[in-house]
Parts: sequence; C-alpha cells; structure tokens
Amino acid sequence: MTVRKACVIGWPVKHSRSPLIHMYWLKKYGLQGTYEKHEVCPEALGDFLWNLPNSSYVGCNVTIPHKERTFEIVEVTDETTKKLGVVNTVFIDGDKVCGISTDGEGFIQSLLASQSGYDLRNKHITLLGAGGAARAIAGTLATRGVSGIAIANRTINKAKAIQHDFGKVIYPVDWKNRSEILPETDILVNTTSLGMTGQPPQDIDLEKLKPDTIVADIVYVPLETRLLTKAKSRGNPIVYGLGMLLHQAVRGFELWFGKRPEVTQELYELVAADIVRKAE
Ligand code: ATR
Repeated sequence: MTVRKACVIGWPVKHSRSPLIHMYWLKKYGLQGTYEKHEVCPEALGDFLWNLPNSSYVGCNVTIPHKERTFEIVEVTDETTKKLGVVNTVFIDGDKVCGISTDGEGFIQSLLASQSGYDLRNKHITLLGAGGAARAIAGTLATRGVSGIAIANRTINKAKAIQHDFGKVIYPVDWKNRSEILPETDILVNTTSLGMTGQPPQDIDLEKLKPDTIVADIVYVPLETRLLTKAKSRGNPIVYGLGMLLHQAVRGFELWFGKRPEVTQELYELVAADIVRKAE
C-alpha cells in the first residue's frame, strides 16, 4: 500500500499546527499517510509547486508568506477563490496543480457546528476587520443567501475593495460607527488581530447587541478572547476561533487522503492543549 504524503509549506513554518490536526485524522481513520512541515523559501516556491506532481507529496497547505504567490502559480477553478486571490490548499488533479481557499468555508462550518440547525439565509452579518480573513469569510458568506454583510474597518478602503469584488450584499461601515449597527446584527465576527495575545482587546461596546446574536472570533490565541468572554457573560451564543482552524483543514484532508474527516471534541481539546502549553 502506498503511503500518501502531504505537508504544510511556509517561511517559517515551525509554528504550524496543521501536522497535529492531520496526523490526528490519519491515526483516527487508520490511513497510511503522513503530514509534515516543509520549509520553502520564497525563491523556491515556484519550483516546489511546479514539481509537485513528480514529488512524493499529494498536496500541501500553504501558509505565510506564500498564499498570494501560490494563487498566481496554480490552477484555480473555484469562483470564490478566484476573487479572493489567495490559496491555502493545493492538490493534484491529473497532471494539474490546483488550489483553493478553504478559510471562508472553514468559518461557516465552524459556526454551523457550534450552532446546530442554524439557517444563514436572510441573516445580517457584521464583520470587524477587512484583512485576508475577512475577505474569505465575506466572500463565502455572500454566496449563502445572507441579507447583508457590514464590514467595519479602520482602513475603510479595504472594506470598499471587498464590496467591489463580491457585490452589494457587502457594505462598508466607518470603524467609529461599528457599535451602531449592532441592533440589526445577527452574527458579529471579529476578524481583526485585536484580542490576540500581545495585542489590545477588541473593545466594541456590546450594549446594543440583541440577546440571540451570535458572537464569533477568529482569534484563537487566547482560546477565549475578551470579546467572547464579554458576549458569553451577556448570554449570547459564542463561536471560538479554534473551530475555524480545524474546519478549514477538512477539505485538504479529504482531497489528499480520500476521506472527509470529522472535527471532534477530542481534536479540539488536543489542539487547544497545545495552544495552552505553548502560551505558558
Ligand atoms: P488576516 O489575514 O488575519 O485577516 P490582516 O490581513 O493583517 O490579517 O488583517 C488584520 C486586520 O486587523 C485588518 O482589518 C486591520 O485593520 P486595517 O486594515 O485598518 O489595518 C485590523 N487591525 C489590526 N490592528 C488594528 C487596530 N489596532 N485597530 C483596528 N483594527 C486593527
């Protein structure tokens, strides 16, 4: 039996938790495979990707700083990924090296897994931040029948650029007005780096939030940001950032190893323990 090999490429790559996630699934499903960290410097990225069909790898995840350049090199057929301009998952299809972005889908699946039966249709979303993660989340949500996606960002032009790429269901909001849109918000998502260990907290005033508004953070170090603690203490449902990291990995594993894996509580705890251990 052949041992399938996948990896995560980055520069540097030692911080990546992807091996922990994929090795957990390989073991859980008894599959012959490995997943490793592979450091690739920017100058070597083209050769690495072009040679992938002749290498020992069946595909890879792509992390900083290679996501944009990989998009330019590989074949992209997914419409949302085409507009995003970044690729985080590379796979081989025949003799073609193909790529997709799974971050937006990872966020949605994480949300749906934690709020079972939730219907996104006609919901109003507010995103805080307009960086790469916000683009992926907004671009993917825009295809799910939501009624509106407000994007509040310190640099308003980045929110306008997302609207330009994904359409009028998205609309920019001034950063200083971000708490004024809360009464109409069904899902509030922090996609900024605020709240991350070492950064200032996301200090939005939640007073005007409806009691059933879901509050999600994509920050997962710490596991529970101050925003989530504040929302939880008001009784709002919350979605932890770690879920997106786990769910974005599902599609790659399925493409490389042929089995759609499940994000279990056991996997969540395994990765959460690694985050806590490294923070100590
Ligand atoms: P990612 O790929 O994780 O989305 P990013 O592209 O660097 O990361 O985006 C970071 C986001 O956090 C941006 O929306 C950024 O706002 P600007 O576009 O105005 O830079 C936001 N952010 C970072 N520090 C911030 C701060 N102190 N106050 C408000 N927003 C901040």
